[in-house]
Amino acid sequence: MPSLRTAVVALAAAAIAGVQATEVELPPCLDPFQPFVYSGCFEDTGNPSALVWRTLLDQNNMTVEDCVATCKGNGYRYAGLAYYGVCYCGQTVNGPQVDESQCSFPCSGNSSQTCGADRTLSVYTDPTFLPLDEVDVEDYSPLGCWTDDSSLGRALTYRQNIDGPLTTEKCLQQCRNGGFPFAGTEYAGECWCGIVIGNDTFAAPAEECNMACSGDSSETCGGPGRLNLYVAKELQSLEPCGYVPPEPEPTTTTTATTAETTSATVPPASDSTTSTTTAPTTTASPTTTTTPPAAPTTTTSALCVSTTTVAPAPAPTCEYKCGNWCSEPLPDWKDLTTCKSSFSSCKLQVASCFKKAGFPGSLECFAFADWCSDIERYCLSTRSGWSKTGFCKNKPPKNPSPAPPTNNKPTTTVYTTTCAPTKGATTTTKPATTTTTQCPIPTPTNICKQPSSNQHGYGPGNPIGGIELPIVTCNDLSAEYDKGYPFKRYSEPDSRKCAKYPRNGCVNACADACKDQYEDCIDVYAETCRQSGKSNGGRKRDNYFEHQENKRTFLFGGNLFSFPSSSWGKDDFTKASEKCKAQYQDCLYVNRGTTGGGKCTKFAVGPW
Ligand SMILES: *[C@@H]1O[C@H](CO)[C@@H](O)[C@H](O)[C@H]1NC(C)=O
Ligand SMILES: *[C@@H]1O[C@H](CO)[C@@H](O)[C@H](O)[C@H]1NC(C)=O
Ligand SMILES: *[C@@H]1O[C@H](CO)[C@@H](O)[C@H](O)[C@H]1NC(C)=O
Repeated sequence: MPSLRTAVVALAAAAIAGVQATEVELPPCLDPFQPFVYSGCFEDTGNPSALVWRTLLDQNNMTVEDCVATCKGNGYRYAGLAYYGVCYCGQTVNGPQVDESQCSFPCSGNSSQTCGADRTLSVYTDPTFLPLDEVDVEDYSPLGCWTDDSSLGRALTYRQNIDGPLTTEKCLQQCRNGGFPFAGTEYAGECWCGIVIGNDTFAAPAEECNMACSGDSSETCGGPGRLNLYVAKELQSLEPCGYVPPEPEPTTTTTATTAETTSATVPPASDSTTSTTTAPTTTASPTTTTTPPAAPTTTTSALCVSTTTVAPAPAPTCEYKCGNWCSEPLPDWKDLTTCKSSFSSCKLQVASCFKKAGFPGSLECFAFADWCSDIERYCLSTRSGWSKTGFCKNKPPKNPSPAPPTNNKPTTTVYTTTCAPTKGATTTTKPATTTTTQCPIPTPTNICKQPSSNQHGYGPGNPIGGIELPIVTCNDLSAEYDKGYPFKRYSEPDSRKCAKYPRNGCVNACADACKDQYEDCIDVYAETCRQSGKSNGGRKRDNYFEHQENKRTFLFGGNLFSFPSSSWGKDDFTKASEKCKAQYQDCLYVNRGTTGGGKCTKFAVGPW
């Protein structure tokens, strides 16, 4: 990913030169959309233009609103206005930012707005796109063979100038640098990029894309009038014109609900089996016990209904297995919010994987961490129909163990009581019984800080061996929270087993997290270095690993693992241990004043 950041900077010079646009203009977006954000005044030499597409809008009656709506309607990330009202759109801004004073011309349709100047653009950004540096060529998926022979225009609008013979990778890189969601290779040597697939373009039989790429005969680069088409959904707006935000979900973290009804009501239950019992039951939190009242009775007063989901006894499902470690199954999801929550649950388990998997199984934890990141990416790039099944179809968890037998399903118990006297019928009343049910999942932001060192080469996002500090954040169990333990160190897959900390215990929580990280650093990273061929005079033994340059996969003891970077594991054991130790001491030092002040002040609300 770092190399791509540089690519973003370099793109102004490289990518856009020589593109030609033959785009059909779609109408402006008339639906409500998130407002574009003003981003500054940018120079436009016109060769190439800073924003790639000049709209056909009337420049003599232009407003910021008109230009932005047209760029939105056509799927572009940026809108720019120049010279009293020439409206441009683009996926990247290919010119340097200049002083605000250089954008000084009033807009022709509203003189209190600014429309750039002779060679400058007032630029606005659609905030509903992922940052370009979070997207790379691997995000393009092939769509197969498509036609590009319509008399109405090209399938993709922007032809790219490619240095030398063409490969698929070169074309995807070029389109990615230009921020284009669609890419296509054609006629052995042509590379095209686009925001949309053009009018009158259709999927074609695969055999019609029959030309080898001029730069790599093992790949296909379209055919005559045929494109090998690719799409990176991550480069499209997450909220395109016409996007309707999902209905706010009823919160799943409610501990008790009030129902004004004439009979006992079963609240909207999860897909677990529902049974009504009267026996006292331990709740999801081992420390909380509820004393249920008598069986539900028909009554005309308000009822408080509380649901308690009791996890099945031992035999837990193993959703993702690394060595001796099993992940706690992630909650299912069905919209952006629940999807992100599942991602959090995944991320909070990464530390426990390194701690518990055992060597060399712990090496698989990097892949698990990547899998969690894939979930986040999936959440953000999906626009509707979020589902765990849909995600897992493309990215199945590794080594899951069979689901538990059906008689072992969680049971949901419903208790019903008459509510305490209420002041009025309109407001929600305090529940008569409080039980801990499903727990909110804190976002995985660490209260403790990862230290930095240039000398040893670690810092935030780049810990030694790629092994992150275990996350310390808000406690997800209300029973513990209420007893004065707002914090928790997530170092176990099952959060009930994680260490909890009082408000003044943040320093200790971080010190413990630093220690966990140190131990994992030694057990996983330094251990790999020790067992590699390197420390053995280069002689190969049963356990060794080979770097495959430019790939993030390593062969270790006959198994392939994926690692955080290609320089991973190149230290010898002594050097690796020193680095782990230095990081540990710095970690204690930078966290010595961590108080968690202002964090986790409300249960299930945060601030995380
Ligand atoms: C300018 O555009 C506005 C709508 O954006 C329209 O109402 C007005 O009539 C136009 N004026 C001219 C002179 O075309
Ligand atoms: C002109 O632009 C200003 C500043 O954006 C805005 O407050 C005003 O409502 C606009 N006037 C019209 C007629 O749209
Ligand atoms: C496609 O082109 C035809 C003919 O020019 C036009 O009528 C139609 O509206 C176009 N469709 C789109 C989606 O641009």
